[in-house]
Amino acid sequence: MAHDESVDQLTDSARPECVFGRQRITRVPDRQTSDQLVEVADQTGAGMTESTKALTILGITGSLRAGSFNTLLLEACRSHLPDGVTLEITGVGGLPIYDTALDGDDPPAGVAAFRQSIADADAVLYSTPEYNFSIPGGLKNAIDWASRPAFRAVLTHKPSGVLSATGGPLGGVRAQGHLKQILSGTLSHVFPANEFLVGDAGKKFDEEGRLTDEKTRERLERYLTGFVAWIREH
Ligand SMILES: Cc1cc2nc3c(=O)[nH]c(=O)nc-3n(C[C@H](O)[C@H](O)[C@H](O)COP(=O)(O)O)c2cc1C
Repeated sequence: MAHDESVDQLTDSARPECVFGRQRITRVPDRQTSDQLVEVADQTGAGMTESTKALTILGITGSLRAGSFNTLLLEACRSHLPDGVTLEITGVGGLPIYDTALDGDDPPAGVAAFRQSIADADAVLYSTPEYNFSIPGGLKNAIDWASRPAFRAVLTHKPSGVLSATGGPLGGVRAQGHLKQILSGTLSHVFPANEFLVGDAGKKFDEEGRLTDEKTRERLERYLTGFVAWIREH
């Protein structure tokens, strides 16, 4: 099947190959890219300073669509996470449109549950479609709920990663830019990595919804390894 290299080229500049698995981090300076974080993973474990305690990541899909590529991408992440890391996946449907009159000490039940799921997670991993060059309104609405009360919301200082997938060739790069800007408004801490984009998503998943494109799988594993190392150091 035809494979459009353009999206991979956006993210696959020359990188050292690493073996993944039970990695231990010896030194992770501040503000590193995912590739740099992977580079400092030491397979021997000598001089380990980083904990390997269990982590929970909350995956938030920006799509409500049955068979959504973004939901499938989050599900694919489960096969590429390091040992001890669990990914729960949630959606953004069913929340009322944000209204200060509904917010306060007793927010709608769905809102309270959504906020709690973020509070319970060590980090959030978003996967978003691109709608009209931005993120879907439902995802923006969910983030608005999770961003309140300001400065002490569940998103405040929450380690966060961003993925995107679209049927078109650009993979949602414009939506990712918007999402990162929105997250900065919530005081979330966004993983500093090159955009992880899945363009032409219809060619990357099989009919059962499995991510079958080998190059995308390899990129995903690199991204997640760097993301988890960064969360642990956070
Ligand atoms: C309202 C709407 C607007 C869209 N706008 C864009 C767009 O600006 N850029 C793009 O690449 N794809 C656009 N798309 C296509 C979606 O990104 C594509 O359908 C994607 O697969 C949806 O994600 P999902 O598979 O997770 O549901 C749009 C789709 C919809 C429904």
